[in-house]
Amino acid sequence: MTDKELIAAAIAAAEHAYIPYSKYRVGAALLTADGAVYGGCNIECASYSPTVCAERTALFKAVSEGQRHFAAIAVVTRDGGSPCGVCRQMLFEFAPRMRVLLADLEGQHHQSTTVAELLPHGFGPANLENMG
Ligand code: THU
Repeated sequence: MTDKELIAAAIAAAEHAYIPYSKYRVGAALLTADGAVYGGCNIECASYSPTVCAERTALFKAVSEGQRHFAAIAVVTRDGGSPCGVCRQMLFEFAPRMRVLLADLEGQHHQSTTVAELLPHGFGPANLENMG
């Protein structure tokens, strides 16, 4: 799976975004260590706060099917926007070293980074080890 293919999978996932309120379309494609790809889109709610981001949709789909090891995630938005703080935290939980590819809905690549770079000094599972 090339970066370009992962970005294409994120663009395909973005088509399903449910965005009646913000109109801000987001797609994500999460590549597992064993080569599977899980897509996700943002899903909004009239009461706003239950809204879930595309990154977490993809992550929850993957984890709920037994996946725990991730190699990369592509995120696409109209402006190559970066994952929100809540998604950074959730991605850090499973894959701090995972590559993060940011692109736009036309497939133009904007930036490559990692979860740890997006969440420096992150709080994670290691902080809760040996708690008795
Ligand atoms: N959104 C995402 O899906 N991912 C992010 O990392 C940033 C924000 C969504 C949530 C909401 O549906 C819309 O974008 C505007 O905030």
